[in-house]
Amino acid sequence: MPATCVIGLQWGDEAKGKIVDILTERHDVVVRYQGGANAGHTVVMGGQTYKLSLIPSGIFRPEVQCVVAAGVVINPASLLQEIETLTSRGVAVGKNLMVSTRAHVIFPWHFEEDRMLNDSTGGEAIGTTLRGIGPCYRDKVGRSHAIRLGDMYREGFATRVEQIVAAKRKILKGMGCTEDSIQLDAAKINEQYRDYAERLRPYVGDTTIYLLDAVESGKKLLFEGAQGALLDIDHGTFPFVTSSNSSGVGVSSGSGVPGRHVTKVLGIVKAYCTRVGGGPFPTEQDNPIGQHIREKGNEYGTVTRRPRRCGWFDVVAARYTSRLSGVDTLAVMLLDVLSELPELQICIGYTLDGKPIKDFPDHVDDLRRVAPVYESMPGWQEEITHIRRYGDLPQKARDYLDRLSALVGRPVEVVSVGPDRQQTMFKS
Ligand code: IMP
Repeated sequence: MPATCVIGLQWGDEAKGKIVDILTERHDVVVRYQGGANAGHTVVMGGQTYKLSLIPSGIFRPEVQCVVAAGVVINPASLLQEIETLTSRGVAVGKNLMVSTRAHVIFPWHFEEDRMLNDSTGGEAIGTTLRGIGPCYRDKVGRSHAIRLGDMYREGFATRVEQIVAAKRKILKGMGCTEDSIQLDAAKINEQYRDYAERLRPYVGDTTIYLLDAVESGKKLLFEGAQGALLDIDHGTFPFVTSSNSSGVGVSSGSGVPGRHVTKVLGIVKAYCTRVGGGPFPTEQDNPIGQHIREKGNEYGTVTRRPRRCGWFDVVAARYTSRLSGVDTLAVMLLDVLSELPELQICIGYTLDGKPIKDFPDHVDDLRRVAPVYESMPGWQEEITHIRRYGDLPQKARDYLDRLSALVGRPVEVVSVGPDRQQTMFKS
C-alpha cells in the first residue's frame, strides 16, 4: 500500500509543514521519524498560525493518526508544551498522537553539552539550535548514558538518572565547566521527569509495531522529514549537519518501516536557498539581494529566530539530494518571494580550482572553495500571491520553474505562492 514521503532537499526550512498538512487529507497516518524540537513547522490555517516542533502537522485532522517514531529525540517539556498549546486552541490531542517508547529522551545535561560543544569544532561553529539534539543522539549511539522514553516507566529509572548525573558532572568538568556552573541536580531532575512521564503516559506506545501493522494492513502512511537532506549526518555537509538522517535514507531506520513500502517521494525546495547556522553555502548572497529575500520571505528561524542566510537556487545540491532521497516530483515553495527581483540567477554547476565538477563535493573544504556557475533568467516582477492555478502564473515564472525542473531532472508537481493552504497549486 502506498506510503508517501516528504523530504526537504536543501538545508531545512523548505516549508514542508504546509505540504504535509495538505497531503494528510489523503493519508491515514502521519509519521515524524528523525530530529527533535530543533525543527519548526509553521502551519497557517483559517488565518491562524500554528508552530509545531515535534508533533506532526497531521494533528489538525482528528481522523489522522500522528506518530512520533523511534528515531526522534524527545524533549518532554517541549512536547507537553506543544500538546497544551494545541489543546488550549481547540485542537484535539488524545489517541490521535502516539509517541515511541523507543525514542530517546533529552535531559538537562544534553543542553549543557550542546552549549559546550557547539563552539569547539576547532574552527567555524556548527551553530546548533542548542536544543540538546546532538548530545542526545551521541548518547543514543554511545548507549551507556542513554535513556529512552520507555525507560521512564520502568523500575530503576531514578537510579539510572543519579548514575548518569554523576558521570555527566565528571564529563562536563573535563570539558572545562566549573563545579558551580553545572546545574544538574539528580533529585530535581527525577522529580521533574517523573511528572513529565505521567503526563505523557496516554500517548506512549510501540510505534514500530503500530506502523508495521498499519502499512501491512493497507493504511496510507505519510512520512514527514525534518530539516533538509543537506543536513543529513551521513550524506550532508558534515560536520555542519544535524545528528540524524534527514534525507530520504532516514525513513526506514527512524520509523522501522522498510523502504520497500515507500511508493512516492516528494522533494521540497524553496525557489531559492537558505541556510541557518554555520557551514559553506556556495550560492549565498551576503548582500542586498540576500537581504531582500530574507525580508520578503521572513527568513528568520521558527525555533531560534536566527536570521537565515539567503542565496540563489543551487541545482548541483538539489540534484544530489533528489537522487539521495529517491525523489519523484518537486514542490517549489515561496516562489512569490522572488517576485520583485528583475533578474534571477540559478546555480547550474560548480568549478573547483577553475575546473568544472560534476557532483556535489563530499568534503566541506571543497564545498567552501567551489565557485558557482550561474545562469541568469528574467524575473516576472508582478505580484503572484493571489494566483491559484498553475496556468495563471506569469510566463516568466513558469519558465523559471520549467528550468529548475529540467536542471534538477524531476517534474514540478506543486507550487506555493504564500503561507496559506489556499496559496498552493498542483500542476496537473
Ligand atoms: P542541531 O540540529 O541543533 O544539532 O543543529 C545542527 C545544524 O542543523 C545547525 O546548522 C542548525 O542550524 C541546523 N538545523 C537544525 N534543525 C534545523 C531546522 O529545522 N531547519 C534548519 N536548520 C536546522
